Amino acid sequence: MESTRIAIDYSNKEKFYKELLSEVTGVLEPEWFVNLANISALLNQHLPQINWVGFYLNHNGELLLSSFQGLPACTRIAFGKGVCGTAAATQTTQLVADVDQFPGHIVCDSASKSEIVIPMIKDGKVLGVLDIDAPVLNRFDHVDQKYLEQVVALILSKSIWPNSLI
Ligand code: SME
Repeated sequence: MESTRIAIDYSNKEKFYKELLSEVTGVLEPEWFVNLANISALLNQHLPQINWVGFYLNHNGELLLSSFQGLPACTRIAFGKGVCGTAAATQTTQLVADVDQFPGHIVCDSASKSEIVIPMIKDGKVLGVLDIDAPVLNRFDHVDQKYLEQVVALILSKSIWPNSLI
C-alpha cells in the first residue's frame, strides 16, 4: 500500500465521508491491532480540527488506552466514567458539543473543547470505544456521527478479534 498525503475536501461532508470510508476499506487487514493503528492515523490525517483520535479497549471490564494519535492520554477509564465510560456503559454514541458541560468529563488534553465517542459493540458486547477530541466547540454533528459509526462498523466486521476482547 502506498500512502497519500492528498487531503480529502471536507466542505462537502457526505462526499468527504464516502471517500474516507473507501480509504478505510482499503487499509483494513484481518488483524485487529493493525486496523486500530492505521485507522487512528487515517482519521488523524483527514479529519480537520481535531487534536486527539484513538481507541480504548475493554480489558477485564475497564477501558484501556490503545492505538491513538495525539498527546499522551489517560490510560484507564472505568465503565460509566467520563465521556468514554458513558459511551461504553450505555452502548450509545456520545456527541458532546461542550466538554465542560458534560458531568464527569475526563480531561486528558486541556485543548479539547468538544468530543465524540462511539462504542464498539460486537454481538452485544462492548469491545471498546473510538474517541475523537476537537479544540473547538460543537465540532461534530449527526453527519459525522453517522459516518464515524460506519467506520467503527467496518473495523468491527473486518477484523478478527481475540477471545480476551469478545
Ligand atoms: N475525555 C475523555 C477521556 C479520554 S481523552 O479525551 C483522550 C472522557 O471524558 O472519557
